[in-house]
Formats: sequence, structure tokens, C-alpha cells
Amino acid sequence: MKTALMLSVLGLLLVAATPAISADKHQTPNAPAEFQSKKNPIEFDELDEKAVKSVERLYGGKCKKCHGEEGGGDGTAAADMLIKPTAFNAPGYAAKRSDGQLFWITLNGSPNTEMKGFGPGTDNNLSEQEIWKLVAFIKNRFAK
Ligand code: HEC
Repeated sequence: MKTALMLSVLGLLLVAATPAISADKHQTPNAPAEFQSKKNPIEFDELDEKAVKSVERLYGGKCKKCHGEEGGGDGTAAADMLIKPTAFNAPGYAAKRSDGQLFWITLNGSPNTEMKGFGPGTDNNLSEQEIWKLVAFIKNRFAK
């Protein structure tokens, strides 16, 4: 009886401790090689004013609350997340992460985090074209 009680207390402690430990060790999964090597079909500089406005609106409506106005990972919804939204404006971030990586995560999401997939067939149902535009936008506006 005593042992059972101790075990369940221990169990509860473990359960309580788990999220912090896993958030600490969490690493964003890496896209498979065939995505890493994809080239963004969108050149941000070649988008017309209307297309720029529309991708700004898309980011504002779907991404900003987590990734923040300036891409700092500090949106209003980010405060109590254990695994924080990626800061796109962290120095060196854009150089380290391929366009294909950003595309793949936005398409499919990152398991066990608040980052859900936005691709075709998800609740958000963005097209691949829209996601490439978001990737171009993120790298153009926020990268340092
Ligand atoms: C509800 C919060 C939330 C929203 C909304 C959200 N994200 Fe995220 N995002 C996250 C979190 C949390 C992570 C970190 C995931 C991880 O570390 O595994 C993340 C990670 C990412 C990454 C990871 C890139 C890398 O370095 O591998 C990209 C790209 C990304 N988000 C793009 C977007 C885009 C584009 C949108 C809007 C269409 C969006 N996110 C909306 C929470 C969010």
C-alpha cells in the first residue's frame, strides 16, 4: 500500500516534470533531403504590389499571433507555449535553414508543438504556391 502510494506520487512528479524536459530537448525536425534541395519558385522581388499585400495579409492572419509582427517568435499567443515559435529574425537563422525546410514545416507542421500543418487538406488548406510565397516573405522581411 505504502509502496503503491509512493509509486503514484513518483509517477505524478514524473508526469509534471516531463513537458519541461521535452521542451528543453526539443529540436525542430529536419525536412527530408528532397525538400531541403527544393528551390523556391517565388522570387520575392518579382511579386507585384497586389501579391505582396496578399502575402502580408496571409502572414498577419495566420502566422503573426505566434511568430510575431517582426518575426521574432514573440506573437501574442506565444507567451505560454513550452516550445516557442521559431524566431525568423534570429541572426543567421535564414542562412542556416533552407527554403525547402521552411516549406516542409509549414506544409506539414511540427509534431508535438503548436505548429500545425497549413498545407492542402489541412484546416487552413493553403496551396503550395501560397506557402512558397510565405517562405519568400519570411526570408525577405525578417532574415538578418
Ligand atoms: C499557434 C502558433 C503558431 C502559428 C499560428 C504558426 N506557427 Fe509556425 N511555429 C510555431 C512553433 C511553436 C514552431 C516551433 C516548432 C518546433 O520547434 O518544432 C513553429 C515553427 C515554424 C517554422 C519552422 C522553421 C524551421 O526552422 O524549421 C516555420 C517555417 C513556421 N513555423 C512557419 C509558419 C507559418 C508560415 C505560419 C503561418 C502560415 C505559422 N508558422 C503559424 C507556432 C506557430
